[in-house]
Amino acid sequence: MAKLFNTTATTENKPYPSLKSLQGQRYVTMSLKTQSLDVTSEGIAAAADILRRGGLVGFPTETVYGLGGDARNDHAVARIFAAKGRPQFNPLIVHVPDLETAQTFAVFNGPARTLAAAFWPGPLTMVLPLRHDAGLSPLVTAGLDTVAIRVPAHPTARALLLAFGGPLAAPSANPSGRISPTRADHVMAGLSGRIEAVLNDGPCAVGLESTIIGLDGPPVLLRPGGLAHEAIEAVLGTPLTLGGSADKPNAPGQLASHYAPNAGVRLDVTTPKPDEIWVGFGPDCPAAALSLSPTGDVVEAAANLFHILRLADELAGQGAIAFAPIPEIGLGRAINDRLRRAAAPRP
Ligand code: TXA
Ligand code: MG
Repeated sequence: MAKLFNTTATTENKPYPSLKSLQGQRYVTMSLKTQSLDVTSEGIAAAADILRRGGLVGFPTETVYGLGGDARNDHAVARIFAAKGRPQFNPLIVHVPDLETAQTFAVFNGPARTLAAAFWPGPLTMVLPLRHDAGLSPLVTAGLDTVAIRVPAHPTARALLLAFGGPLAAPSANPSGRISPTRADHVMAGLSGRIEAVLNDGPCAVGLESTIIGLDGPPVLLRPGGLAHEAIEAVLGTPLTLGGSADKPNAPGQLASHYAPNAGVRLDVTTPKPDEIWVGFGPDCPAAALSLSPTGDVVEAAANLFHILRLADELAGQGAIAFAPIPEIGLGRAINDRLRRAAAPRP
């Protein structure tokens, strides 16, 4: 498999080559051997060491698996984009262990502090004014004056952040535009040979990416996600306005076509066609091949969504996938957002 930088030549304890030293170097056709690391103190220490040397590690969070790299290291961040094949204009989320560390990278106003107190650690990302002197790679913020920051709740993510001791840039650990990974084997399937290691943990509990709120002005919902917008509105005491557009996305999840399986996707289907794999929701779809939640629980459906999208894609073959209607309540809104993008015309 072709890859951008020859990191396999790096020996133990030596930093990976800097971006500058690699300028002008051509693509090197060599595949990395992606290690599967167990979640033990040795595995976490090995992952932290890879990150310190500018390497990339797939790791679990409560939302989806992230592809982590040192957010202060231009080369590591550039390799995240290369490994994902992601368009470079999209900024990345910076993961930190706590609010105190977050405040060294971003300026918090009143609402931001209120939301941090209510929902961190957890599946909430806030976009806030960037502290330019804090040492983040400008690639992480795509040169913007704001930074997206989040404190994950997953114990393995937290252990990794503490062992590494720095901020981690971490988009979802999947090739750009494809289904997000909620299990370690999803990460391996998409990125094996392109990253140094994956921390091999269980499935993600939430199963949807974090909710992103813009707070550098009046609070804006930039991406519905694993924290219900109603809960955020209740704490803020004001309704959120909707932000972003498919034409000028500030989140790749805002691109009209995203999270795309290979098979075509149809939504709000109560009568599937013969060549469709029907994915049910609730008790009214007993004939469905798969179900996001047989009881009609949107939280369970969110946790199952990306895994079932993959299964349905495999089962569909040359056919298509048809989803039963999902109510726009709580996490249902984020599920429908992802499904609409999976169903959108492909570029
Ligand atoms: O749950 C999650 O958030 C996962 C896990 C791994 O933590 N991460 C994730 O990252 O979904 P990613 O890169 O796939 O999505 C991050 C989103 C992007 O859509 C990006 O455009 C947006 O955050 N973002 C980052 N910086 C931003 C900024 N300054 N302004 C607006 N949006 C920003
Ligand atoms: Mg993603």
